[in-house]
Amino acid sequence: MPSTVIVGGFFGDEGKGKIVSYLAMKDNPVIAVRGGVGPNAGHTIEYHNKKYKVRMLPSAFLNPNTRLLLGPGVLISPDVLLKEIEEFRVSDRVFVDFQCGIIEESHKSTDSQGRLKESIGSTGTGTGPANADRAMRTLKLAKEVDSLALYLDDVPNAISFALEKNENVLVEGTQGTFLSLWHGTYPYVTSKDVTASGICSDIGLGPKNVDDIMVVFKAYVTRVGTGPLKNELSSEQTETKGWQEIGTVTGRQRRAAEFDFDLAKRAIMLNSATQVAVTKLDIIFPECSHMQSFEDLSSPAKYFIKSIEDQLKIQVTLIGTGPDVNDIIDRRNL
Ligand code: GTP
Ligand code: IMP
Ligand code: MG
Repeated sequence: MPSTVIVGGFFGDEGKGKIVSYLAMKDNPVIAVRGGVGPNAGHTIEYHNKKYKVRMLPSAFLNPNTRLLLGPGVLISPDVLLKEIEEFRVSDRVFVDFQCGIIEESHKSTDSQGRLKESIGSTGTGTGPANADRAMRTLKLAKEVDSLALYLDDVPNAISFALEKNENVLVEGTQGTFLSLWHGTYPYVTSKDVTASGICSDIGLGPKNVDDIMVVFKAYVTRVGTGPLKNELSSEQTETKGWQEIGTVTGRQRRAAEFDFDLAKRAIMLNSATQVAVTKLDIIFPECSHMQSFEDLSSPAKYFIKSIEDQLKIQVTLIGTGPDVNDIIDRRNL
């Protein structure tokens, strides 16, 4: 703190949404600001027996005191954003940067057929074609869209103002390190950099103003769409282990493999992580479900976490033990 950046360490869907929701409730940030690509991301958050799905809003929306910002690097689908604003009743605390790019119907149709869909396995949400238009300097910006007029703000300035007052700012990354256009498994990647540096650039947070970088890993690796996945399990093996998952945005089956220490080490390096979160420990060790204290974990579960810490040479500060926001072990020294 005061500025903490959360990013995915594998191929997205590591459970960043749940980690961010927990931090929003626990640390009470004045601002939660989302970087990353756009509505191709999908976070599922469970809280008090209710399930929420967001594609555009920051995952910190559960805390009513937190302002929810979208940085200029994030692409907006106005229909998706406006629907979520209404559904979660957050119209008084959502702010979109003037320079956010806008996804139009033509981008969605280019993305839902042909090479991007079939070969790359894109989500079909229009983000790749919209970022291509941004590079061509033809993309429409949020300041040109009437339906967003109420929500426009200078997001980098709002962040800077909060940090000057030493207030907590939570920065939400989306996707994952190896979906990065620069550092991922090209061409099977998303349409921009999504490592911590890219996320900070998206929101206009300079490198010297970052205090903490938390990389989120799932206790196993999943991937949706095409592209390499080392030691990929067959769908039967995935099912036997209880690791099968369905994608939030596309409804596709996620592919799975065991925790990959080499990939994780590289993610630590690329993101200059200061701490790590590991989610879904309860899926690998069901006896640990809902636990909130490290001491209560079974010996094999403790050994797994300790081997991550030893091999990656970094502290695992948050451990997910179930889908609910409060199914978590918090080992930070607050
Ligand atoms: P992207 O931004 O799309 O990369 O997604 P994400 O990182 O926010 O993850 P997503 O919500 O798509 O997928 C994670 C899934 O795991 C969700 O269904 C969460 O509810 C669930 N989840 C998160 N943490 C835990 C955990 O510790 N245990 C269990 N059982 N489920 C978890
Ligand atoms: P695109 O970002 O829609 O162009 O998709 C490119 C690749 O990134 C595909 O393999 C998608 O499945 C993957 N992808 C994009 N966003 C996410 C995400 O938020 N979670 C997981 N995979 C993603
Ligand atoms: Mg997701």
